[in-house]
Amino acid sequence: MATHILGISAFYHDSAACLVRDGEIIAAAQEERFTRIKHDAAFPAQAVRFCLQQGGIGPADLASVAFYDKPLLTFERLLETQLSTAPLGLRQFWKSMAVWLKKKLWIPQLIQKEIGHDVQVLFGEHHESHAASAFYPSPFQEAAILTLDGVGEWTTTSFGYGSGAEIHTLAEIKFPHSLGLLYSAFTYFTGFKPNSGEYKVMGLAPYGEPRYVDRILGEVIDLKEDGSFRLNMKYFNYLSGLAMTSRHMDKLLDGPARKPETPLTQREMDIARSCQWVTEEAMLRMARTVHAETGYRNLCMAGGVALNCVGNGRVLRDGPFERIWIQPAAGDAGGAIGAALSVWYRYNENDRVVDPEGTKDGMSATLLGPEYGDAEVAEYIKQTAAVGEPFSDQDLPLRVAHVLSEGKVVGWFHGRMEFGPRALGARSILGDPRSSQMQAQMNLKIKFRESFRPFAPSILREHVSEFFELDADSPYMLQVAQVKAGLQLVMSETEKSLFGIDKLNVPRSSIPAVTHVDYSARIQTVSREDNPMYYDLIKAFHSLTGCPLVVNTSFNVRGEPIVNTLDDAYRCFMRTEMDCLVLGNYVLFKQDQPNWEEEGKWQEQFALD
Ligand SMILES: [Fe+2]
Repeated sequence: MATHILGISAFYHDSAACLVRDGEIIAAAQEERFTRIKHDAAFPAQAVRFCLQQGGIGPADLASVAFYDKPLLTFERLLETQLSTAPLGLRQFWKSMAVWLKKKLWIPQLIQKEIGHDVQVLFGEHHESHAASAFYPSPFQEAAILTLDGVGEWTTTSFGYGSGAEIHTLAEIKFPHSLGLLYSAFTYFTGFKPNSGEYKVMGLAPYGEPRYVDRILGEVIDLKEDGSFRLNMKYFNYLSGLAMTSRHMDKLLDGPARKPETPLTQREMDIARSCQWVTEEAMLRMARTVHAETGYRNLCMAGGVALNCVGNGRVLRDGPFERIWIQPAAGDAGGAIGAALSVWYRYNENDRVVDPEGTKDGMSATLLGPEYGDAEVAEYIKQTAAVGEPFSDQDLPLRVAHVLSEGKVVGWFHGRMEFGPRALGARSILGDPRSSQMQAQMNLKIKFRESFRPFAPSILREHVSEFFELDADSPYMLQVAQVKAGLQLVMSETEKSLFGIDKLNVPRSSIPAVTHVDYSARIQTVSREDNPMYYDLIKAFHSLTGCPLVVNTSFNVRGEPIVNTLDDAYRCFMRTEMDCLVLGNYVLFKQDQPNWEEEGKWQEQFALD
């Protein structure tokens, strides 16, 4: 009989569940997609239900449940942190304690109650779960491992190696010294939401100059040659207060933190650039150290900081490793996968066999979530009185490619939902990358968000090196590379003199919608075996236009999780200026749909976000 292990990550941020059958990940989903609460940290009851359903099993069929961290270690950290800063952090402390005492110390009982079965509950250590999520699904038999995080129990950073089914930790850096919390502190300081707006800081960085680097390195972080570091806690407030930085940071960075939603100035761009520079430098130094200590040619990474694709690009380009594999759900959601696989390999002592070619990983292109069959789509369309036409697998790609080539924006909902923060061609909004208007159009009319943020290209794997300085797989959109020099457009003298965000409107290349202000792009390479229908769509677009890539952004609006159900997708379609929606094999055009009356109310609600 097959062995089923349920992995769970919960109660910090981004709760998730996954199901592993005999070592194979067969389902995984984040709770936020079901509850529609972004980064939902509650017990992932609906994600668990989905995983069991997908596996065709009931709670009694589970061999064990693996939880991604050890609540008692985290409790100890909270307690000791409080004792070292009391009475400064009393309010924060009681807030945390109330939650802990209610929920977190009773996790085994809580899991058994939620699942409705007296199942064995096993606990992984937070960073072991991240390391396991990075190494076990990777295509490498042996590799160096780096985990870079905000904070787990005590550990914030770790390095080590994996070999076969074994994982070894060689060194750790402990709370409060944390690269993730440093980045979150600057996210807060530049007026974005910590634990969620980090990628905005990364997107803002190229507009700035690194003029705060010396001050940050001299005062805020003591970064050693080997990549180890200590933060100077006088600049931070997360031990005791509710703000992330202290008044010393205001003094160091020429003024107070930007208030959310107030205009961005050059100072925030310069701070973002400086913070990004320091983070990349730390990542690079750590990569060199772990390479020197282990001698392995390949590197696996996980932890929230591993979502910093600009930093990953730098590690690949300037670092010592031949290949890098990053867990697509690098944040805490992916801990569910790490915990479950740790139980399978380490607790149950199973052997690990990787793809002999060393290319295929164990994440199934991270398409591990729910899907809807055409019968369900047809039923949904009928029920909602929507208007759509079905196409065969052969005809669908060309039909949609035509729509894209006309400069229209398409909501693409096809196959199983992605696990992890990126949309990769299952729940994506797509556009034509050759259009110079596309970035502004998609940002303002569809995503309702700050216009400085670039979009990512999904490009046929075999064409990536014709457009970008990259000839490697990047299936999870976690690598950044430069647009080829020949495709870059040189700026005129007037354009060069533009400042900060004004530079946005200057086309940077022949694929302007996906080229950032510094000529970089966040790339997803698409192979047919990973996602046949998405591949065929881009291929059809290529045959029509000569362009083997499309603009890909997640199917949601600002502040909302990626769409999960048919209804989520249809509502998002109707609430925005999207032109066309693909639900499975059905194509729906906006002009054919019945009137949508909720719009005004919804826009208002959105403006408050
Ligand atoms: Fe974590």
